[in-house]
Amino acid sequence: MPMDKKSGAWSGRFSEPVDELVKRYTASIPFDYRLAEFDIKGSLAHARMLRHVGVLAEEDFAAIERGMAEILEDIRGGSFGWSLELEDVHLNIEKALTAKIGDAGKRLHTGRSRNDQIATDVRLYLRDAIDRVQSGLRACQASLLDMAEEHAGTVMPGFTHLQVAQPVTFGHHMLAYFEMLARDHARLADARKRVNRLPLGAAALAGTSYPIDREFVVRELGFDGVCENSLDAVSDRDFAIEFSAAASLIMMHLSRLSEELILWMSPRFGFIDLADRFCTGSSIMPQKKNPDVPELVRGKTGRVFGHLMGLLTLMKGQPLAYNKDNQEDKEPLFDTVDTLVDTLTIYADMLKGVRVKPEAMRKAASEGFSTATDLADYLVKKGLPFRDAHEVVARAVRAAEGKGCDLADLSLVELQAFSPLVDEGVFAVLTLEGSLAARNHIGATAPEQVRAAVARARAVIK
Ligand code: ARG
Repeated sequence: MPMDKKSGAWSGRFSEPVDELVKRYTASIPFDYRLAEFDIKGSLAHARMLRHVGVLAEEDFAAIERGMAEILEDIRGGSFGWSLELEDVHLNIEKALTAKIGDAGKRLHTGRSRNDQIATDVRLYLRDAIDRVQSGLRACQASLLDMAEEHAGTVMPGFTHLQVAQPVTFGHHMLAYFEMLARDHARLADARKRVNRLPLGAAALAGTSYPIDREFVVRELGFDGVCENSLDAVSDRDFAIEFSAAASLIMMHLSRLSEELILWMSPRFGFIDLADRFCTGSSIMPQKKNPDVPELVRGKTGRVFGHLMGLLTLMKGQPLAYNKDNQEDKEPLFDTVDTLVDTLTIYADMLKGVRVKPEAMRKAASEGFSTATDLADYLVKKGLPFRDAHEVVARAVRAAEGKGCDLADLSLVELQAFSPLVDEGVFAVLTLEGSLAARNHIGATAPEQVRAAVARARAVIK
């Protein structure tokens, strides 16, 4: 960002110039310049309201509107000269406006303070960010649904304690992540309601003596209503913390999926392959193809969690109302949004490039005695109490393990040695497909249920 030297923004209150290092230390322009478009939007709404209530003359408003349009063009074109001397985005834009249109520019700040101005800018920024994050979530959910539909009948081992537990379908596994992201989406929708409130009118902290019309500004900026208390409006950043918590949960979910993709891509599992464009090689080991993107998602989750802790800590010691501490909310918030939006965009595409290897999944599922529970359930249905059935199957598993085979590979005679209740119907129960098909109720893994769940989910994200 180009930085100009310009004279300081505030008046003759001071008898010596601010120390150069202090200027750098206190300035927010190196990062809050990103709020410029929202700042201008907020300023124009404020100016329109001042004209509406008769505080600002028609020609002054017209000049402000014209000046701001030029400034916006300069900013977008990259020719706007940001100045560290002018501290922050608000003073930079106001000075540029006054340079362009004279006294009308100086009238813009009537009935307003940078305190309610920045609170408004951050809320406008975050509202827009939430909308972007929500569409990123939807894109990932759509990719998960495509995978779930394609693999509604693809059997894989389901794990608990990372030990083979029971067969599930890969589609069912993907739908688990769909549900997590659905809750994340709903959480953001709820947080958005609290973000979407107007601080302007709070002025520095106590309100203003001008006959302002806050509801007018609410309508202009598309807010749902005003912040009811001026002290609260300028000081609390709980809405940003709440967003940051929701962002952390999204990253936590994606980090878990990343961990699975990494494991599954390891030759020890060999369940999937990731498209080359999401991987890198090794500079020394020619055979390597590393799952860099999921690893980085897992790694970047740490910085998003860190920002949440940073924001909470930033807020906890502040007396009412505004304190300069709040200037420190921007970098963690911006980084959270940038990280999240990039992660979701890459992830939606990366999921499309996952190549599933059904043979490897099936092989793993048939090696871990994953239908042991089905055998127990079979005996229960024939009258054996579940605890006794559990014991019978445990002995059968031990025998199969000793022989180096799966339960389904034991002969009828061998199985009958563990319980006389066993008949030839047992083999249907011991197959992976039989196990899947038996779990046929809402929320379970039977292929029929997975297909129905995909259909319901498609309607949700439409
Ligand atoms: N740059 C400031 C911030 O980010 C804007 C508000 C400054 N207000 C003040 N009274 N110094 O919070």
